[in-house]
Amino acid sequence: MFHSIRPSILTRMHYLEHIDATDRVDGTLRLQRLRQIPPETGRFLALLAATAPDGAYIEIGASAGYSALWLALAGEALGRSVTTFEILPEKAKLALETFKSAQVENIIKLVVGDARQYIAQCDEIAFCFLDAEKEVYEECYDLVVPKMVKGGLLVADNAINHRETLQPMIDRALQDGRVDALVVPIGKGELVCRKI
Ligand SMILES: C[S@@+](CC[C@H](N)C(=O)[O-])C[C@H]1O[C@@H](n2cnc3c(N)ncnc32)[C@H](O)[C@@H]1O
Repeated sequence: MFHSIRPSILTRMHYLEHIDATDRVDGTLRLQRLRQIPPETGRFLALLAATAPDGAYIEIGASAGYSALWLALAGEALGRSVTTFEILPEKAKLALETFKSAQVENIIKLVVGDARQYIAQCDEIAFCFLDAEKEVYEECYDLVVPKMVKGGLLVADNAINHRETLQPMIDRALQDGRVDALVVPIGKGELVCRKI
């Protein structure tokens, strides 16, 4: 997956990495910033997604589509598609630009809207990357876990840099008999849950 990333994907990844880095220091308002994962988290997600069982692949919180490009590598390797949800129309527009210029429109499907309204229609979730506003994490966790297939993976970002806010959800996941879970110190901290 990592040795032969297509130039169209690499070019867009580098472009978004540059915008994200600039956003963080030039005073861009929080909601306008891309707030995307670092590259090492992207590689971690791609590796996990490539080992997930058969079923639906979803992402909650697309922003400009950077993390979805990493998931696209796994999707391409396995011949599976990924559905990503984005609530803000202006971010969704950037994500569409990303998927077009990276030429992954056949792998990534973007749904514009509140993911919470769509998860009910998702069945057999094999992989979910949760990277939305922290206030909705626990609700998303409660919606996604019952719909996951055995061996399916739920990965939630910000488990370390927003630990205080997310602690109740992390504690629940660590004690939840439906999943095996742990927090991995990579990037901003990833809570990884595997459905038993
Ligand atoms: C941290 S950013 C996602 C970054 C992206 N995963 C990446 O690494 O490239 C969070 C995004 O989630 C979106 N979002 C927040 N709540 C949402 C919801 N309920 N449904 C869908 N998208 C949501 C925000 O608009 C924002 O663009």
